[in-house]
Amino acid sequence: MPLDDPNLGEIVVSQEQVKERIAELGREISDDYAGRAPLLVGVLKGAFVFMSDLARAIDLPVEFDFMAVSSYGSATKTSGVVRIVKDLDIDLAGRHVILVEDIVDSGLTLSYLRKNLKARNPASLEVCALLVRKGRQKRSPALKYVGFSIPPAFVVGYGLDAAERYRNLPYVCIWAGSES
Ligand code: IMP
Ligand code: MG
Repeated sequence: MPLDDPNLGEIVVSQEQVKERIAELGREISDDYAGRAPLLVGVLKGAFVFMSDLARAIDLPVEFDFMAVSSYGSATKTSGVVRIVKDLDIDLAGRHVILVEDIVDSGLTLSYLRKNLKARNPASLEVCALLVRKGRQKRSPALKYVGFSIPPAFVVGYGLDAAERYRNLPYVCIWAGSES
């Protein structure tokens, strides 16, 4: 076990895999947005680690903004009711926006955010998610950029937390603790 912590299980995405995949995503985004300066919108807190590495893999001028949302429900389940806790600073009108997410589970957070951002009239809006949990989305979530598709276990690391811990792990692993 990497960290000597009984709550941490099997590694789902290794540090090396994350690094390689982010380099690929960076190249793809650099090609797709050539000649433009995309605005990366990170969903706090989970996306900050991924967004930081992704941005440095993009060979274009990029701008950053962040929003924080809280979903009502327990630590490990989303209710689909989302509240904006911190809104964006930058006006999205006419901007090429890439929404950066840590993980798409039910897709409810994402579908709320997509609708909300779309209403601000960006020139384009795409989503880049590090992880997508297989078979959990109710509707097809139209994800343009996805790092990895993962099996249905709760995971931590690389920005993802369990009760605010483990975000700094340089890999993604199964969390074997009990749900709060
Ligand atoms: P959704 O609305 O069901 O798609 O939930 C997405 C949000 O739930 C993510 O942005 C995460 O903050 C959180 N989440 C879902 N699954 C996990 C997980 O396995 N580990 C940590 N956070 C998770
Ligand atoms: Mg979260």
